[in-house]
Amino acid sequence: MRGKFISIEGGEGVGKSLLASGLARVLDKYGISSIVTREPGGTPTSNRLRDIFVSPPKDDPLLIETEFCIISAARAQHVGKKILPLLEQGQWVICDRFSDSSRVYQGKIGGIDKNFIEQVISHTTQGLEPDITFLLDCDVDISLSRVEQRFKLSSTDMSRYDLAERSFHQKLQAAYRELVEDFPDRVVLIDASDTIEQVVEKSFKILKDRFNLGL
Ligand code: TMP
Repeated sequence: MRGKFISIEGGEGVGKSLLASGLARVLDKYGISSIVTREPGGTPTSNRLRDIFVSPPKDDPLLIETEFCIISAARAQHVGKKILPLLEQGQWVICDRFSDSSRVYQGKIGGIDKNFIEQVISHTTQGLEPDITFLLDCDVDISLSRVEQRFKLSSTDMSRYDLAERSFHQKLQAAYRELVEDFPDRVVLIDASDTIEQVVEKSFKILKDRFNLGL
């Protein structure tokens, strides 16, 4: 049987990667094997594209059109070479960001035409949409303080989006919330101000109900 495809979305610092690994751990306990991956990235080529996307040359910042092309190329490779084959093998796949990130960052915020975005997404994903998407949402003050904390601990450079002004993060949150109305059957809003343990538990319960796991 084909595996389930779960995506996790939300602005910067809401806890997406923690939820991804937390869900994989809980699923494993119940005998469901899953692979955690992320976008942009997920294959060696997609990771190279991620590097360009996240750290373009300082004297040549990316145009929004270029951003969308890079992200889309990374996604085509990721879906075709990794996600679809895994799902066909019956693996569950948990993806930290997927097409909704393009709908929000390059579309709703970046201003690229919605129909064009949808056409490219449909092509690069071969029509694959997640079976369920957890949208992590919390007050911008909380997520921004988590971003700061993360970079203090890891001492990596902040991405340009991490560094953006508070008003950008608020716009991001509002744009993400629209997704719940755009895709009501797929996108589930989760309060990310709770502890990560609570967020994982809530999300897992939703998975059990949605997919009749009977665990
Ligand atoms: P990350 O920090 O969550 O790993 O993601 C890197 C950045 O990529 C993040 O700021 C959001 C951005 N992004 C887009 O702009 N469009 C996309 O389609 C994806 C997948 C990510």
